Amino acid sequence: MPVALLPPVADEISRALAALDVESVCATYRVQNEFIHLDRLFPESVVAPMVDEVERVRAGINRNYIPRHKKGGSVSYYTLREQAPAVLTLYRSPAFLDFVRQVTGAPVQRCPESDPHACALYYYTEPGDHIGFHYDTSYYKGTRYTVLLGLVERSSSRLVCQLHKDDPAREVRELALATEPGTLVLFHGDKLWHKITPLGENEERVSLTLEYVTDPGMTPVKRFFSNMKDAVAYFGFRSVFTRRGASPPFRPSSHA
Ligand SMILES: [Fe+2]
Repeated sequence: MPVALLPPVADEISRALAALDVESVCATYRVQNEFIHLDRLFPESVVAPMVDEVERVRAGINRNYIPRHKKGGSVSYYTLREQAPAVLTLYRSPAFLDFVRQVTGAPVQRCPESDPHACALYYYTEPGDHIGFHYDTSYYKGTRYTVLLGLVERSSSRLVCQLHKDDPAREVRELALATEPGTLVLFHGDKLWHKITPLGENEERVSLTLEYVTDPGMTPVKRFFSNMKDAVAYFGFRSVFTRRGASPPFRPSSHA
């Protein structure tokens, strides 16, 4: 049963976005090759209920390990839409969708209900948890944009971003960011080469990812590879291939 949204959280999200100089955000996004980092964008009133949900869904973490590329835990959209109302309030916020459209300049929409990666939590909880350099490749027909929101940051891990990596004519600019609670990152999936550096001892890092696309269509071949990648690298075969609850046809996507 999907959760009910939280109007007070929706109001706080709208308020935080209304306080932004969106024109300046858009300009920086363009200069940085479709990447923006907004330190502590959302206040405690938005972040705290999401952190409660990070704890609530912890039992549903699927751990995964791909040698030399990735180690960590994930909770899929299927779980979040049933147990995480504050997270869902952000993903379904009309004000937030408008903000993403304004900044990207693209007619983006949320991903289909059948996509376990539409919004998901990533847990870095064991020493060495990390993900290597990758693009967030789109399996959809349309362009994919990723939003990351820091929720728990008690770690030495960093989101390392290499700007302009896709443009041989430009010099690469590298950033190493701590995603503090409420800090938001938004980028074009095919343009930002990025990784999360390994977690240290007694550290923890949890972030939320939200996915947006310009066209949610997907070919059958790409659907197959996307399903396999989500099953192996993120949510497990049972979660991906045994659909929970009534939903439209299965058309997930995945991080690269
Ligand atoms: Fe990624």
